[in-house]
Parts: sequence; structure tokens; C-alpha cells
Amino acid sequence: MQIGPHRIEPRVILAPMAGVTDKPFRQLCKRLGAGLAVSEMTTSDPRFWNTRKSVHRMDHVGEPDPVSVQIAGTEPDVMAEAARHNVDHGAQIIDINMGCPAKKVCNAWAGSALMRDEALVARILEAVVNAVDVPVTLKIRTGWDALHRNAPVIARIAEDAGIAALAIHGRTRDQQYTGQAEYDTIAAIKARLSIPVIANGDIDSPERAAMVLRHSGADAVMVGRAAQGRPWIFREIAHFLATGEHLPSPTLAEVRDVLLAHLEALHTFYGEQSGVRIARKHLGWYAKDRPEHSAEERAAFRAVVNRAETAQAQLALTRDYFDALIAGVTPEWASAA
Ligand SMILES: Cc1cc2nc3c(=O)[nH]c(=O)nc-3n(C[C@H](O)[C@H](O)[C@H](O)COP(=O)(O)O)c2cc1C
Repeated sequence: MQIGPHRIEPRVILAPMAGVTDKPFRQLCKRLGAGLAVSEMTTSDPRFWNTRKSVHRMDHVGEPDPVSVQIAGTEPDVMAEAARHNVDHGAQIIDINMGCPAKKVCNAWAGSALMRDEALVARILEAVVNAVDVPVTLKIRTGWDALHRNAPVIARIAEDAGIAALAIHGRTRDQQYTGQAEYDTIAAIKARLSIPVIANGDIDSPERAAMVLRHSGADAVMVGRAAQGRPWIFREIAHFLATGEHLPSPTLAEVRDVLLAHLEALHTFYGEQSGVRIARKHLGWYAKDRPEHSAEERAAFRAVVNRAETAQAQLALTRDYFDALIAGVTPEWASAA
């Protein structure tokens, strides 16, 4: 798939997830096979550009090309300025968020709430596309609710405005994350557009990725929640799409090494105190479905590792846990818990 001058290969993309797809996670997913990794949403409000959070979100040093940065907001001029600012800070693709149902975003009439106002959508897209020389992509849902599935209208507006690719999450805004994603609306849009379409929603296995591509005719798939604690899903999907065969699951030793390197990257990127805190949710995801230990042992691991206050302790406990899994024994702290 092509987004402007950028070849997206393989056609498996990490979805933007606030609080998840920071630079360490994007780098990891790209290394493990994602053809593109979209940043967490960055605010378009310049008053917040110098906060610690925004500075981290706008840091793209060392990130593999192409760097895609998502912006959110409601004012065409402000969004245009935010796009320029992010391009100045290394963005090679600007992605506009009209897909996020988060209250914090939607109360301010941004994210997927914007889809209710088609005229405003057109003004925002035109302003951003005209403001920057890099390709601009758009992420939407299928509509506001079951009675207002206006994604096909928004898709046409997007193509006319010069949007370079369109990602569609197969749910309406009022569904939040309930029910199942549907791909019929995505198929209908793909059939009518000439720009690349990216299908998103509930893709959690190579088979599902292949089914969604077949069903929708989309040019690529986008994976969000299924990548949490499982960043190798990108190479698994890519391999299956290319060969029709399954890659073996990563060994426990590889999972341990990926996780330890991820923790170290978080500690370095955020500093020890914040890095240790932010790493906790990733640790929970990596340990979540390990079949080698009982639910009690996994819960004991989370309880112990969540108490670790230093980078060294967090790394050591994690290493011990996975070493115990590899040796097929119960870790000492789990039997003591
Ligand atoms: C924790 C979390 C944060 C998210 N943040 C964003 C965001 O900042 N921007 C956005 O467009 N979508 C956001 N989303 C939506 C995802 O990009 C994606 O569309 C959704 O999770 C459906 O894909 P999935 O079923 O593969 O997870 C977020 C989703 C989650 C779970």
C-alpha cells in the first residue's frame, strides 16, 4: 500500500492508542513487523505543546520512517497549525483523529463526535491538507450511531479534500468498544473510493486479518488492542498474508527478551520513575494469557511486580518470572504469596 511517497510494507498497521502507542512501543512494533505505527493522539491546542506529555508525544528521534503523527481537535485553523508544528518536529504523515470515542475528546466535539458535522469535517480536512506538504490520513468510525452511519459521506469528503488514506473502525461511536466490528460498511466505502482504505476493529489473529482483507477489499489492516502484550502479532499476520502459513509463536525466551528490552526502552525514554510506572500496564498485558502458569500465579506476579519502585527491581522480577516459566517451576514469590 502507498501513502503519498511512502510504501507501507507489510500492509499491517499499529493503530493509534493514547497511553499505549508511545515511541518505545511504536519502535518495538515496527521491529516486529508493523508496516506503519501511528502515534498516540497529540493535542492541537498549542497551550499544551510544552507539557511533559506532549514533549514525549512529539519526540520521534530514532523512529523508523515513515513517522505518522495523529492530531485531534475541532478548529480548522488550529488543526492546520498543529499539523505544521508536528511536521516541523519530524512527522512524515499527519493522521486526523475522527475515530476516538473517548469522553475527554468527544466532549470537546473532537474525535468521532466530529463526524456529526460534515461541513466542519470538510473544512478541517481541507485546512490540514493545505497546511502541510506531507500526506494527510484520516481515521473514522462507521458513523455516530446505527441510524447515522455516515462514514460513506465522510469518506467521499475525505477523498475530495485530498486525504491520502482512510482508516475505518467498523463500529459506530455510540458502540464504544461493545458488540462486534462489522466490515460491510468498510467494503462499501472501499468499492467507491480510489484512495487506500485501511480496515480496523477486532483484528486479533492472522486468519481474521486475511478474512477482513478478503471481505472488505481494504488495502491494509490496522491492529490495536490485540498488539498489547503481543507486539509480534504484526510479523505473524504479515507472514500468514504472504505465505498462507503460520509462523511459530515466539519462544518464552524471546518473549522474555522482547519484554526486558521494552522495559529498558521505557525506563530510558520516560526516566526511571515514570518509566517504571508506565511499564506496569505493559507487564500486565505480557503476562495476561501465559498458559504456562495458573491464573493465581499470574496474579501473584502482577501484584509483586507492580510494587517494584526501581527499574532494576522491575527488570529482575520480570526476568525471574519468565526464567521460572522457561524452567517449568513456580517462582519463589508465587509460592510464598
Ligand atoms: C487504550 C486505547 C486508546 C485509543 N486511543 C486512540 C487515539 O488516540 N486515537 C484514535 O484514533 N483511536 C484510538 N483508539 C482506537 C483504536 O485506534 C482502534 O480504532 C480501536 O481500538 C479498534 O481497533 P482494535 O479492535 O484493533 O483495538 C484507542 C483505543 C484504545 C483501546
